[in-house]
Amino acid sequence: MISQDSIQQILSRIDIVEIVGSFVKLKKRGANYLGLCPFHNEKTPSFTVSPSKEIYKCFGCGRSGNSISFLMEAEKYSYVEALRWLAAKYNVEIEESETSAEYKQQQQVADSLYIINNFSQKYFTDALFNSEEGQDIALSYLKERGFREDIIKKFQLGYNSEAKDGFTKAALAAQYNLDYLQKTGLVNVRDGNAYDNYRGRIIFPIHNQSGKVMGFGARIIKKNDKAPKYINSPENEIYVKSKILYGSYFARQAIDRADECLLVEGYTDVISLHQAGIENVVASGGTSLTPDQLRLIKKYTSNLTIIYDGDSAGIKAALRGLDLALEESLNVKLVLIPDGKDPDSYVNKTGAPKFIEFVKENKKDFILFQLDIALKDAGNDSTKKAIVVNQVAETISKINKAEDFTRQQDYIKQCSEILKIEESGLHALVNKFIREKINKDANRSIRDEKFSGTDNTTTITNENIDSDVNNLLNKDELYEQAMIRSLLEFGLKPWNETQKVADHIFQEIEINQLEEMIDNKELLRVLQVYKTWYDAGIEPTEKNFFYYEDQQLSSLVVSIMDFNYEISPNWKEHYDGHIATRDELYAEEVFSTLNYLKLRKIKKLMDTNQHDLEKATSPEEQMVLVQTHQHLKQIEIELTRQLGTVIFR
Ligand code: UTP
Ligand code: MN
Repeated sequence: MISQDSIQQILSRIDIVEIVGSFVKLKKRGANYLGLCPFHNEKTPSFTVSPSKEIYKCFGCGRSGNSISFLMEAEKYSYVEALRWLAAKYNVEIEESETSAEYKQQQQVADSLYIINNFSQKYFTDALFNSEEGQDIALSYLKERGFREDIIKKFQLGYNSEAKDGFTKAALAAQYNLDYLQKTGLVNVRDGNAYDNYRGRIIFPIHNQSGKVMGFGARIIKKNDKAPKYINSPENEIYVKSKILYGSYFARQAIDRADECLLVEGYTDVISLHQAGIENVVASGGTSLTPDQLRLIKKYTSNLTIIYDGDSAGIKAALRGLDLALEESLNVKLVLIPDGKDPDSYVNKTGAPKFIEFVKENKKDFILFQLDIALKDAGNDSTKKAIVVNQVAETISKINKAEDFTRQQDYIKQCSEILKIEESGLHALVNKFIREKINKDANRSIRDEKFSGTDNTTTITNENIDSDVNNLLNKDELYEQAMIRSLLEFGLKPWNETQKVADHIFQEIEINQLEEMIDNKELLRVLQVYKTWYDAGIEPTEKNFFYYEDQQLSSLVVSIMDFNYEISPNWKEHYDGHIATRDELYAEEVFSTLNYLKLRKIKKLMDTNQHDLEKATSPEEQMVLVQTHQHLKQIEIELTRQLGTVIFR
């Protein structure tokens, strides 16, 4: 762990405009800065950075956060990696506190593995070009397949001899640790003897973003039915399969230029296309794309074109999980190469210009393609066809960002034509899926036992849910948010001569037992964390939460601290009189948010009372309950009256 002291030092130097500005071109607009959102495709800027609040928010896609969450999202860093990046940027020396032993250990292993891989790559390349066996068996094989020497060198291909332990001996002689050699997968140990794992294979190094070798793919040369065609590195500290896109180190700039990423299956496809001058290409390794890989691609471009062998079993694998690509706002196209050819053999046969033309003319839309396949599978079976309709509606519903709205409408139109169903029907179905998703998300944060204790997941996601109930829930949540927001923003301001706003809020909460009135458990947690800090003598502001290690809480706080509360400079210019700012009205706001919670409490008590009244049998009992009702009613009227006299958003 990085020590609290170092974190504090880093945070005190953070300049969000500078940090975000190193990734996004920002222009000053009033108190804020504006730019094109890096998280979704847009033509007019809606990405706003507030230097005073130290947060950003995109009004297009809704993403918001602080400097750290920005780095986490834009650069795919972990929380700790983001802190390290900032520390390096601002020259803060990081002190590690005790618990970092494990991290240090892991870092050390990673460093060692990189060093071993570097040594190995050089060893294998040397063996390919300079040993007799390498030249005769491997280099001649590669040349026969048409790979030029410059491209073989660029991709740092190599060869591991058929001999039992040539590499192992060299590595041990160079003092590399046997445990680590095993971790890299290059060396195996059996019966106490260490020997080479990739014997008689061409070695394809796999590079990370900065060009360091993370692992290897090793292809057999001689036909052998017993041995696998490729052996890949095992998972270890630096080789994480789900995050690897082969070739991305060499493709990054070309992807940028073309604003398109080509995805192929294999190592040799990437290399052949490069050789043909098509460099914006990466390989998945023939498995379905993982969310991490999709995000990696999305970092470079929004346009993904998958080029696969038309007969390959890999297509279905590739299509699986692509709904996720839609959620990431990726534009996915598909090109199938006929006659069992893969991009490698096809480009070798036709040459680059024809290949490029073929890709251009045979790009199919991924959604329509999927629909096509599913419809063929379904044939005349009407049950199966109904399933297809549902599936396509669900897929389309995943395109659910404001700026993609027209795209979504287009799909609905095209798919309903292909399916020969009413456009409005498909429309309704798509909306149903969108609604379900929203409800599911909402469900996660809104406590639901308050309705009857039945299984609410089914009740709430139910299609026929009463939209009023939904609105009500949302409204309640808004009030809860407003109350937390006033605490965060105004907690340290004076309430009266002796108390601060925070003292008053906590006192009111305690007296009225309002904690049970806060349905959203996450919001309640913000309240509790605030109180722990406050009681410990820390004076918390929203910033303490922005940089809080618990990212869920942190992003919740960011999302409720709204940009909209800043008065627009335009407005100030055109209005002569004094505009009361939210800051000046804080006491009223605190007052009304608390009152609202009290009101809800009273309503709840009245409900229970009413319930008891209906069940009451004796007149005495009824009498007491009626009196209680009247008493509660009085309080309700009073609270409502007070609320009515203050303006409440
Ligand atoms: P292919 O079988 O299509 O191989 O597998 P390839 O890349 O075209 O190789 P050549 O052209 O026959 O020499 C595609 C990819 O699937 C992964 C590899 O990443 C390979 O590049 N794969 C395949 C494995 O990981 N293991 C295997 O046994 C086979
Ligand atoms: Mn191939």
